[in-house]
Formats: sequence, C-alpha cells, structure tokens
Amino acid sequence: MSSKSAIPLFDYVGQYRQIEAEVLAAVRRVFESGSLILGPSVRAFEENFVQFLQVDGQAIGVGNGTDAIAIALRALDIGPGDEVLTVSNTAIPTVSAICMSGARPVFCEIDPGTLLMDLADAEMHITSRTRAIIPVHLFGNAVEMPRLLQLAELHGLAVVEDCAQACGSTWQGQLTGTFGDIGCFSFYPTKNLGAYGDGGLCFTRSQELADAMRQIRSYGCGKSYDCQREGVNSRLDEVQAAILDVKLRHLASFLTQRRAVAAVYDEHLPSSLTRPRIAPEVCHSRHLYTVIAANRDALTVRLGQEGIGFGVHYPVPIHRMRGYAFLGYPKGSLPLTERIADEVLSLPCYPELPHEDVRQVCQIVNNVMQSNP
Ligand SMILES: Cc1ncc(COP(=O)(O)O)c(C=O)c1O
Repeated sequence: MSSKSAIPLFDYVGQYRQIEAEVLAAVRRVFESGSLILGPSVRAFEENFVQFLQVDGQAIGVGNGTDAIAIALRALDIGPGDEVLTVSNTAIPTVSAICMSGARPVFCEIDPGTLLMDLADAEMHITSRTRAIIPVHLFGNAVEMPRLLQLAELHGLAVVEDCAQACGSTWQGQLTGTFGDIGCFSFYPTKNLGAYGDGGLCFTRSQELADAMRQIRSYGCGKSYDCQREGVNSRLDEVQAAILDVKLRHLASFLTQRRAVAAVYDEHLPSSLTRPRIAPEVCHSRHLYTVIAANRDALTVRLGQEGIGFGVHYPVPIHRMRGYAFLGYPKGSLPLTERIADEVLSLPCYPELPHEDVRQVCQIVNNVMQSNP
C-alpha cells in the first residue's frame, strides 16, 4: 500500500462542508414550516428544475430514479403484454422499472464507440408489441436524440429518457431529459445533482402526462382521497427537495468542476487506453469517467494496492444476471455488451477531486499500461 492518502471513487463530505450553512438553513426551514409532504419545498424545487432544463414543461418529484421510470411508463399506460426497448449495458433499475410496470424489457446492442444504444440494432428489435424505447444516457454521455425521436415517431413509440447519470448533459445544446415524452432523473447521492438520501423526478411537456404522474406518485389520488387510477407512494421528500434546491443553485459550477477533472484525465491518461466516444454534438456531464481496458484486472489490482477507489459500471450485463434469467437471453446473445462488461473501468470523478489526485491516478494507470500493455 502506498503511503499517499487514499483517493475514494466518490466523496460528498468535501462538498457538504462548502455548502453546509445553506443546507442546514434549508433543512431548518422545512422543519419549521409545518409541511412535511408535497409542500412548498417540493413545489419550489420542481419549478426551479424546469427553469434549469430551459424547456417549458412540468417536473414531478418522486421517491427515486427507479420509480421515476416506472411511474413514467404507467402514465403512458404501458403494462403487461407490452414490450419496452432498452439496453442491457445499464444500471439494474432501468430494467427493474420496466418490470415494475408489468411490461417486458427487450434489449438491443450498444454502439462499440459510445457504448450507448445502437439505434440501428434497436430498430431491428421493434415488434408489434413494442410501446416505448428507453435510451440511457450512460456515464453522462448523450444518445443521439434527434435520430432516436425519428425512429420512435416512425414506429409510434413513446420515448422515456433515463437521465439518471446525465443531469446537465446536452445534445446540440439541448439538455437530456427534454427530448422525449418523459425525462427521468435520479438524485441518488453520487449523481451530478445528488440528494442526501433518495430522490427522483419526471419531466414532461405534456399536461396530461404530468397530471397522471402526479396522481400515480400519491396513491393514484388527486387532491382528495379519491383514487383516479392505480398508484403508488413515491413522493420526493420535502427535506430532500429543500437540499436539492440549494444544490441546484451550485449545479453549473459542480458540472464545470466535473468537466475540469475529466480534462485532466483526458490529458494525462495514456492514449493506449480507450475512452468511450463522445459525439461532437454532446456536452458530457462527466458523471463517471469510464475507460475501456482489456487489461482491467491488472489495473484494478494496482489501484486497489494504491488505495485508489474504482468502479465497474457494469460488471454483468442485465440480461446475464440470475435475477433476469427469466427473460431468456442466452450467453452470447448480445456479444458486444457482454465483452464490454469485462473491460469497463470507472476512475474517481467528482467536482471536489483535487487535480493533483487525478494526476496521481493517471500516473498509476500509466505505470500499469507500460508493464501490462
Ligand atoms: C442509469 C440509471 N438508471 C436508473 C437509476 C435509478 O436511480 P435510483 O437509484 O435513484 O433509483 C440509476 C441510479 O442508480 C442509474 O444509474
């Protein structure tokens, strides 16, 4: 083990110290307000989040990002007998949310450069049962949304964007989450806009979908105890909303800091290490700094010895997980997705990460690449 201090994959405490007074004041205001569920803090945050997205529409705060996707699908009346197209190279919740709606997830391949949904392959998987497509803006990169929207329109599919990792990412200047019928966000603590607990949000330009999602998040009720449709209990909490509203004011600077950290990696990592392609139209939000390394095991062993945090996003594609064996995808059914799972490696990347630490990580990676090319 090196004598240098450990560098974690993620650390929120440094950021908390910077905004502590604002956060605690916001939490105190909630406790003193006399309103703890779906009160003024949630309403204010929802309005401010719409401002942030710079598109007219409505935001519906929900319990977490998984529920955001499940609620979005239910609002679109997607359920048993329907198919929803997505990728297997994603976080489990993209897929569990589809299953929660009662629909069946169908997987397509990823693009070998970007590691995002391969739109040509997606089209091949559309059947008469396909009702929706969920592009996942993985790592903070962005799927080519104008082309995806054309595809969806051609086949009459709803588009639900999984923006859990892409809050602040853009395609041709337009923020992810504003292209499709519904954009779904997660405020899990590690995310670009992270709560101090769980949180999520659905954005839509449709009044009808907004009304449906507001009902579904709260037992299917409107303003009274009169159920209008089957619902759940998944509301963004007042305390988390108040904290998120504070952090939203700092988000632009957090994103700038993330991009600066990534720029140091870009400059100092060896060119022999492959990075997922970023289209020129994309402004990446750098939620994760992920590289593709055939010698990943050698890298993870050394990083572990040096006390450097790392992540693998994701080690097993969803279609090969035991919990999803019932979907019936044999080994080899998505060869590229399966290969990439053996090669991806995420390095520490968060706004407060000192650039000196990033250079130290690069030095270690460089050494491994030289001795284990
Ligand atoms: C791609 C993706 N989709 C969905 C989610 C679900 O979000 P949450 O953990 O808030 O339920 C996450 C985060 O964990 C994610 O990374």
